[in-house]
Amino acid sequence: MSRLDIFIARMTAQKILLEYVADRIADIDGPVFELGLGNGRTFDHLREILPDREIWVFDRAVNAHPSSVPDGDHMILGEIRDTMPFCGPRVKRRAALIHCDLGTGDPTADIAKSAWLSPLIVEHTAPGGFVPSGIELDLPGFELVDIPPEARSKRYRLYRRFPEGE
Ligand SMILES: C[S@@+](CC[C@H](N)C(=O)[O-])C[C@H]1O[C@@H](n2cnc3c(N)ncnc32)[C@H](O)[C@@H]1O
Repeated sequence: MSRLDIFIARMTAQKILLEYVADRIADIDGPVFELGLGNGRTFDHLREILPDREIWVFDRAVNAHPSSVPDGDHMILGEIRDTMPFCGPRVKRRAALIHCDLGTGDPTADIAKSAWLSPLIVEHTAPGGFVPSGIELDLPGFELVDIPPEARSKRYRLYRRFPEGE
């Protein structure tokens, strides 16, 4: 497989997975967190498929295509390790969906990121909420969900927080 093939497969899996999860959060209250604005492609897709959800976007910088930049109120700028622990007063609610697109492809860097990021995700996910992630996370109280075959990619995992009482 060429790198172009791998890239296309990963983008296809990402799109299918986001749509799969969007369908499953219909009954879960809470906003969406987009961790990693990047070019803004997945942010733009999320706002298209979830037009009634508030979307909070986290990144250390805004380098997105001009058509895919969130409004200033919903862009949380800075190192996620510094901003996410203190975003509560601004976002107010736990998220129904946290899309974690911060992977580097470097296994050591991803393990290090997972160590500080996992507890933050646990803190900010609503009961029953979903976390599609490009890096492996350690999330007590969550289950690893089967990904639809057409969205399977080595780079993606899907976690779901157990609903309260389950
Ligand atoms: C792979 S890109 C995201 C791609 C994006 N979802 C898209 O569809 O265009 C990863 C982004 O995460 C941001 N990022 C990575 N680690 C971060 C951190 N620790 N704090 C804040 N932003 C981070 C980078 O600046 C980069 O913009």
